[in-house]
Amino acid sequence: MSQLTGKTALVTGASRGIGRAIALSLARAGAQVLVHYGNAEEAADAVVAEIRAAGGKAQKVAANLRDADGPHQLAKRVRAIVGDRLDILVANAGVSKSAPIEATSVEDFNQLFAVNVRAPYFLVQQLLPTMCKGSSIVLLSSLAVRTAVGAISAYAASKGAVDTLVKHFAAALGPRGIRVNAVAPGVVATDMSSFTKTEAGRETALGMQAFKRIAQPDDIAEAVAFLASDAARWVTGDTLRIDGGSRL
Ligand SMILES: NC(=O)c1ccc[n+]([C@@H]2O[C@H](COP(=O)([O-])OP(=O)(O)OC[C@H]3O[C@@H](n4cnc5c(N)ncnc54)[C@H](OP(=O)(O)O)[C@@H]3O)[C@@H](O)[C@H]2O)c1
Repeated sequence: MSQLTGKTALVTGASRGIGRAIALSLARAGAQVLVHYGNAEEAADAVVAEIRAAGGKAQKVAANLRDADGPHQLAKRVRAIVGDRLDILVANAGVSKSAPIEATSVEDFNQLFAVNVRAPYFLVQQLLPTMCKGSSIVLLSSLAVRTAVGAISAYAASKGAVDTLVKHFAAALGPRGIRVNAVAPGVVATDMSSFTKTEAGRETALGMQAFKRIAQPDDIAEAVAFLASDAARWVTGDTLRIDGGSRL
């Protein structure tokens, strides 16, 4: 397990799913974790309580990342808690929409890009003053960038933009000693991939993978904790596939 004692971390979308597992994993490694949520306040409270019960430090922080000024509001709240030092930013909050090209509306498209691309972009911008040599930023990409799975073209494009940002952010922030990477999960058992709860959906997911089981959020979280830690000090500008060998 990576050691993050004394580090401060913000995990967006930490009320549920992959973000929840990342928050718990970073806390287990010793970080103080800000558990961001949008609507699911009770779920965020439960994550904070679980971290505190295990002897860790955590606090919830709210913001709607669909709003244009959501990232700015969140950054302000984060700075009010951690002051001028944030070591780890995991921009995990995301939305997906499964729809054929013909059925994708402008509103769907705008929402996907607002939450999945604009929010991480401006969160990084707004939190940069708190980041310094050794800080690590991790964004959430997807298997859908590399291969055409499902009817999720607009979602996949938003995650493609994330991969592009990783490279440009890493190049721009490397001289300051700030690393920027992404993880690209395959299908993970969360609310977002509810299709895995049907037999047909499960078969499809298993059929893509070398490992014949559906990933759990913890399978992703440990890799994020690695990227956030000094063990990954020479890794930047990369998207790490964590997909159980999907579509090899
Ligand atoms: N599940 C998969 O198979 C999979 C695969 C590849 C990549 N990913 C990526 O992994 C990340 C996490 O996905 P997940 O499966 O854990 O999703 P999830 O279970 O649906 O959880 C999404 C999280 O994002 C937050 N969120 C969504 N919209 C928001 C908004 N407008 N403002 C603030 N917070 C918002 C939610 O907060 P509240 O509930 O508090 O509102 C929740 O905590 C996403 O970026 C997703 O694209 C997932």
